[in-house]
Amino acid sequence: MSGDKNRVYIFDTTMRDGEQSPGASMSLEEKLNISYLFDQIGIDIIEVGFPAASKGDFESVSEVSKILKTSIPCGLSRHTKKDIDACKDSLKFAERFRIHTFISTSPLHMKHKLNKNTEEVLDAIKEHVTYARKFTDNVEWSCEDGTRTDIDFMCKTVELAIKCGATTINIPDTVGYSVPSEFTQIIKKLINKVPNIDKAILSTHCHNDLGLAVANSLAGVMAGARQVECTINGIGERAGNAALEEIVMAMKTRNDLMPFYTNINTKLLNKASKLVSSATYPVQFNKAIVGKNAFAHEAGIHQDGMLKNRNTYEIMTPESVGVKQSSLVMGKHSGRHAFKEKLNDLGYTGVTDDIIQTAFGKFKILADKKKHVYDDDIASLVDDSLIKGDNVINLKSLKVFAGTGEPQKADMTLEVYGEIKKASETGDGPVDAIFKCIKKLYSHEVKLQLYQVHAVTEGTDAQATVSVRIEEKGKITVGQAADTDTLVASANAYLNALNKMIIKRNKTAPEDYGQEKMKGI
Ligand code: KIV
Ligand code: ZN
Repeated sequence: MSGDKNRVYIFDTTMRDGEQSPGASMSLEEKLNISYLFDQIGIDIIEVGFPAASKGDFESVSEVSKILKTSIPCGLSRHTKKDIDACKDSLKFAERFRIHTFISTSPLHMKHKLNKNTEEVLDAIKEHVTYARKFTDNVEWSCEDGTRTDIDFMCKTVELAIKCGATTINIPDTVGYSVPSEFTQIIKKLINKVPNIDKAILSTHCHNDLGLAVANSLAGVMAGARQVECTINGIGERAGNAALEEIVMAMKTRNDLMPFYTNINTKLLNKASKLVSSATYPVQFNKAIVGKNAFAHEAGIHQDGMLKNRNTYEIMTPESVGVKQSSLVMGKHSGRHAFKEKLNDLGYTGVTDDIIQTAFGKFKILADKKKHVYDDDIASLVDDSLIKGDNVINLKSLKVFAGTGEPQKADMTLEVYGEIKKASETGDGPVDAIFKCIKKLYSHEVKLQLYQVHAVTEGTDAQATVSVRIEEKGKITVGQAADTDTLVASANAYLNALNKMIIKRNKTAPEDYGQEKMKGI
């Protein structure tokens, strides 16, 4: 990977670092759907997971690596042979793959986390980078907590990692502590001081604890880094990682100041954001590039300026990131063929026939209920079908009695592990009654952390998207569902979160991974 000096490689870690964010765990099916799209978008390297962390991670790295056509799959490993073996075993079906191995290099982490001195860390780098290189010529090495590492020691570790075969050197701002001027200096120093630095690509991996992840990543690129590690919607540990869409659009929009380019088809960014958020959690309305309000102009003066010349208040076009005016698309007489065409038009090209069939069935029901069916409605139907994988609990029917005076009541039928069960419950409001029914039919102890409703499009007949976040023994899952009936969407969103929790309960983690996770990988 070399070539043009202004080419910046995009390394996406939505499914690894992004998944480490509370409530963002994704099923295999979700990861596959996301990967199909990432492959089309032009992401260079996809870090799919941490194969040694769990059977589920191993399986998803393996399955995703089989379907990628152009993106290079990558697995993460600590400095242990067991982790590196898990990477190479899970990636063995891919034509080309990357092993990303890391160790902490800051005094704080070496002492308190690793209990190793500098010599021991250097020995570990030598042993494990050399070992990883036996299985692939594409090895990335990261110095965890890089921005709090002594710079002279960092230069030594980087030189050694390259000598042992690392072809990409990643500098993580693991705790989001750095600022652009400091990050610039770190990259410049490595370029000036490490004698073999020309044998590797320098990479940034910035967390957003101070809201500087994107600024620090761009500073790194301007100083000479040519790979950026980032996630869609900026999801990731704590405050998240640098947002891929922001990095790419900043370089594209301010190409006068940052004359770099990537391989990303920016017109698919909005779609990627929606797909990732449907599998994880909603995007804030004012989020740059992909937030619902990112291209909305509310103030009269702004609207007036926009009508005269869009450049007055728009620095990039909505179309350039795939945001279209929500258009009236189809009616109840539209057939399956037209529906499929529409999906292609909206960018859903890798979707299976089963999903198309399910979404088409839902579309017919929706078109009967709703006067206007918009692009966004169709997208939310497909996303809704995509996020419903192998659910063991499904809603069969729901009747709700609500209004003033009466106690609110829900009658519900669920299919629980293939068995049909019915319950009636009253509650403090209809949603409470619904959630109580679910609890009665499938006994469980989870805490409801968040319940949110958004309208997909405009009008009182709009579909509602409901997001629900639940917690059980420190594990968090997020469920989402859309329906013109907000209460049906509420039931389905809760069930979606619960089904994910059931899958999560069954995931096994190695003894020390949980520990490691808490320390900020
Ligand atoms: O933030 C971090 O340091 C990481 C490394 C594993 C690259 O995620
Ligand atoms: Zn990270």
